[in-house]
Amino acid sequence: MILIHAFPLNQTMWDDQLVALQNFCRTITLDLRGFGQSDAPQDSISMDHMAADVRALMSALDIDRAVLVGLSMGGYISFAFLRNYPDAVVALVLADTRASADTPDARERRLNSAEKAEREGVSAIAEDMIPLLLGGTTLERRPSIVERVRSMIEANSPRGIAGAQRGMAGRRDSTDVLEAIDAPTLVLVGAEDRLTGVTETEEWSHRIRGVRLKLIERAGHLSNLENAHEFSAALIEFLQPLRYTR
Ligand code: MLT
Repeated sequence: MILIHAFPLNQTMWDDQLVALQNFCRTITLDLRGFGQSDAPQDSISMDHMAADVRALMSALDIDRAVLVGLSMGGYISFAFLRNYPDAVVALVLADTRASADTPDARERRLNSAEKAEREGVSAIAEDMIPLLLGGTTLERRPSIVERVRSMIEANSPRGIAGAQRGMAGRRDSTDVLEAIDAPTLVLVGAEDRLTGVTETEEWSHRIRGVRLKLIERAGHLSNLENAHEFSAALIEFLQPLRYTR
């Protein structure tokens, strides 16, 4: 299983899942280009480029096919991966994400945010994003998660954050990929997700054949961090029957 992290975090956002799944399957996380320990070699980092990095990591580890778990930007990258390497996907988990490209307004906000990261630094981005990334329950009652997310954001470079924003602004619409997916697919969304809401998620996800959709309670956009137990349990419940059949 390869877990692909959200923007603007890093692979440690999956730490709870790595513990929960340690006796279940082999799990692999990575710091995407521009985040965590990976450097930021470009001004703009496309989703195709990040997907190619995931594929290259698989090749380096001698893995032909994997279960992909992508949250938010990780989901955009999963769509690019599906488009480019469909045979390498055993099963798919898409969390708190969307298949469509940015609207013109969203694209403009993103490009402005990329400039802000370069001009004002990463703390300004953390201030802007934390109230959007986290649900009300977490913001009110779980200060340790708020601080964990802030530290992850602030550990990134302005260049990495700006590069990913520009890459996401230019990403393709992937709604055409939805109907072509033939891997078993689970879609998860935090019940308090303000960025990719439940209604929007229901709308795009039902275009995937045989999809399973599950709400993660008491969680916002970072559902795997905000309700780690429910998120991990959903992964195991979904994948358990597939272990012996694929
Ligand atoms: C994420 O969590 O990866 C971001 O919210 C994605 C986005 O900005 O669209």
